[in-house]
Amino acid sequence: MGTVLDVSDIYKEFLISKRQQRILGTKKRKIVAVNGISFGLHEGEIFCLLGTNGAGKTTTLRMLAGLLKPQRGEIHFGNKTYLHDEDEIKQHLGFLTSDLKLDGAFTPNYLFDFFGHLYHMDAESIAKRKKDLFSRFGIDRFAEVKIKNLSTGMKQKVSIAVSLVHDPDIIIFDEPTNGLDIITSREIVDFLKELKNEGKSIIISTHIFEIVDKLADRIGIIVDGKMACVDTYEALTHDSKIEDAFYEKYRQWSTQNE
Ligand SMILES: Nc1ncnc2c1ncn2[C@@H]1O[C@H](COP(=O)(O)OP(=O)(O)O)[C@@H](O)[C@H]1O
Ligand SMILES: [Mg+2]
Repeated sequence: MGTVLDVSDIYKEFLISKRQQRILGTKKRKIVAVNGISFGLHEGEIFCLLGTNGAGKTTTLRMLAGLLKPQRGEIHFGNKTYLHDEDEIKQHLGFLTSDLKLDGAFTPNYLFDFFGHLYHMDAESIAKRKKDLFSRFGIDRFAEVKIKNLSTGMKQKVSIAVSLVHDPDIIIFDEPTNGLDIITSREIVDFLKELKNEGKSIIISTHIFEIVDKLADRIGIIVDGKMACVDTYEALTHDSKIEDAFYEKYRQWSTQNE
């Protein structure tokens, strides 16, 4: 099994404005969000990035998706990098953000076409893909309803459909079931399993142990911007539940790095 994505020692810090300093109750001028993270994504696996709020999951995934530039470290897709092959990488990559941000004034139909064109797809391929994904997620009935009038669950399904318009083979989903009702969560989990069975390589971030139990082949535990551990689901749950394994790694790492 090959490695489709190699992440080596990536680092990202943010400068904090005076206003943010007040809100966060800190005098620090910068936050190190991701502090030297390395791991690889194997072909056809689901890799779960597991961590508490503020651990650095979103920042990591935004760098992998090419939306943020690491200040240090390297990201390789085979022999391709964002520096030289950004368009080609993006043709193969689907990214779902954790903050819903589809423009409420548009309809699922319009947005799907819009993103299809961004990926240089022809009208026929877009229409076929839309038919598949919209019926898969029950979006058809809402295709002409403005996003702002859809339920949270339906908005998320539209976001997922749109992120996959170009049928990418590397899929990066940031907290895909966060804040959703149990039915929608279940639908998304089942869908991710299907994508894996189709041979897609998938990274999801989550802080929900149930999701890890259902989906993870391998797990990266991220604590305070660092990778505390990367291992298979089997190894981590050999003699305890994933929740206990997480707390154990979290405790070990926090005491070592105090
Ligand atoms: N744009 C930003 N400006 C300042 N700080 C940020 C920004 N984005 C993230 N951070 C900070 O970086 C840290 C990691 O955030 P994030 O990657 O969103 O974590 P997670 O997704 O695991 O909750 C947090 O302390 C967060 O407040
Ligand atoms: Mg996040």
